Amino acid sequence: MMAQVWVVVPAAGRGTRFGGPLPKQYLPAGGQPVLVHTLEALLQHPGVAGAMVAISENDADWPGWSEIAGKPVLTCTGGASRAASVLAGLLALPDSVRADEFVLVHDAARPNLAQADLGRLLEVGRQDPVGAILAAPVRDTLKRAGDDGGIDRTEPRQRLWRALTPQLFRRHQLIRALQDAAAAGVEVTDDAMAMERLGARPLLVEGAESNFKITTPADLLRFEFELSRRAV
Ligand code: C5P
Repeated sequence: MMAQVWVVVPAAGRGTRFGGPLPKQYLPAGGQPVLVHTLEALLQHPGVAGAMVAISENDADWPGWSEIAGKPVLTCTGGASRAASVLAGLLALPDSVRADEFVLVHDAARPNLAQADLGRLLEVGRQDPVGAILAAPVRDTLKRAGDDGGIDRTEPRQRLWRALTPQLFRRHQLIRALQDAAAAGVEVTDDAMAMERLGARPLLVEGAESNFKITTPADLLRFEFELSRRAV
């Protein structure tokens, strides 16, 4: 069996674009918070050892799980941005996770991760010196807007991918990359972007479109639909 990896889950966003008081990772779907579905998808996989969840300070919504699927769930305090939360999670991992070991990072708000995609990312990514991310090819035609809202031009979509998570990197390299971006005042929107800044070229591993991020009420309905399909 291949060695297991830890996963860092940034879940410190307090974004409530839904309007309600509850951050999206705690919204209920199929009788459980979105974050539980996310952690179950990760921890059910035999290649995952445990999860470090970065939650916001004084997070009254965190239900206090310490174990899911028989594996440890630890928490730490996240930061003011996704990148800061991931960095906090990486630093808080148990000492048994060596500096050169691969670790996964996965958004709390992506509960619909397929086991097959996670498995392929682990298998393919670990053969790359840098690491890898799940991603989906762009299928729509892309327009560049002008200031007036008119179309300036059409951008070629060949070779364009949408970055998903999980993303797989070596613990120490990702720590360094995120610290470097923070010191330079660059806001990185995913982990690969921090690595790219330092000249690394992570591998793209194609993943399913169904691994979407819950951002709007429609996304939550879509996830509930996916859950009901699983039950059949
Ligand atoms: O807001 P966005 O959808 O980009 O957030 C992606 C992930 O990063 C979510 O799981 C969110 O909880 C997390 N996040 C965080 N700390 C922040 C902001 C976002 O852990 N300060």
